[in-house]
Amino acid sequence: MPAKEAGIFFAPLYSLGLSRHTAIKKRWMSSMNIEDAIKSRKSVRAFTDQPVDQETIHKILELAQRAPSGTNTQPWHTYVCTGEVKDAIVKDVCELFDQGKASRYEDFDYYPPVWEPVHRDRRRQLGWELYGLLGIEKGDRVRTAAQSKRNFKFFDAPVGLFFTTDAYLGRGSWFDAGLYMQTVMLAARAFGLHTCPQAAWISFQDPIYKHLNIPADQVLLSGMALGYEDTDAIENTLVSKREDIENVVTYAGF
Ligand SMILES: Cc1cc2nc3c(=O)[nH]c(=O)nc-3n(C[C@H](O)[C@H](O)[C@H](O)COP(=O)(O)O)c2cc1C
Repeated sequence: MPAKEAGIFFAPLYSLGLSRHTAIKKRWMSSMNIEDAIKSRKSVRAFTDQPVDQETIHKILELAQRAPSGTNTQPWHTYVCTGEVKDAIVKDVCELFDQGKASRYEDFDYYPPVWEPVHRDRRRQLGWELYGLLGIEKGDRVRTAAQSKRNFKFFDAPVGLFFTTDAYLGRGSWFDAGLYMQTVMLAARAFGLHTCPQAAWISFQDPIYKHLNIPADQVLLSGMALGYEDTDAIENTLVSKREDIENVVTYAGF
């Protein structure tokens, strides 16, 4: 947590005569309320270089481990990298990116080769809004590729995560892993941290499996950047739109 934010947070606890250690424990216990965590979570695409200590990451993952799953199968594996391992993955994947050696999402049955208009339009809207903020014109392939490549540097976040599940499992387990990932992202907010889930890594799997020793019988579900938001970055001002709930919710029997 940035020192300024921590100071504001701990001040009332100190005034109660609590030690800093107790204050930190209290913070973990009281933390952020669920509404604030949900509302403040967003996909951050520019991070500061402030490191995240392993103890904090461990706390987040301990919290997330409470995520529900069908018949409590907990069908997720999480790989966390920083330092030299992260750098090696970034280097190898960026090389593949530069060589245009991306696999396709549909090869992994991840996204369809062709989207129905409703989904295509929402994707396009996000793209226009993000690239509009960054001042990247439609058709500017060089800047579009450069922005896309930032995925493979974890948007400069100090920590990268990868989530897998066992390959023999079906859609129900992928669904469980999604609930788990959202719990990781909400738990991160309680520690002043931000995230960006990243399916982009699906296209460049070999270096990830190699550097993290991921067994071949696990399937990659997503990457995720974790760190502190760069609050000066224009892309982090993006507030992604949502469909009116009338168009997605069906009430019956009221
Ligand atoms: C599974 C998953 C994969 C995603 N992959 C990427 C990605 O590769 N790169 C990226 O910039 N954003 C990615 N996102 C972020 C989405 O674009 C974002 O969640 C969506 O636009 C809604 O915005 P918000 O997260 O700020 O609320 C991903 C989100 C999810 C849930």
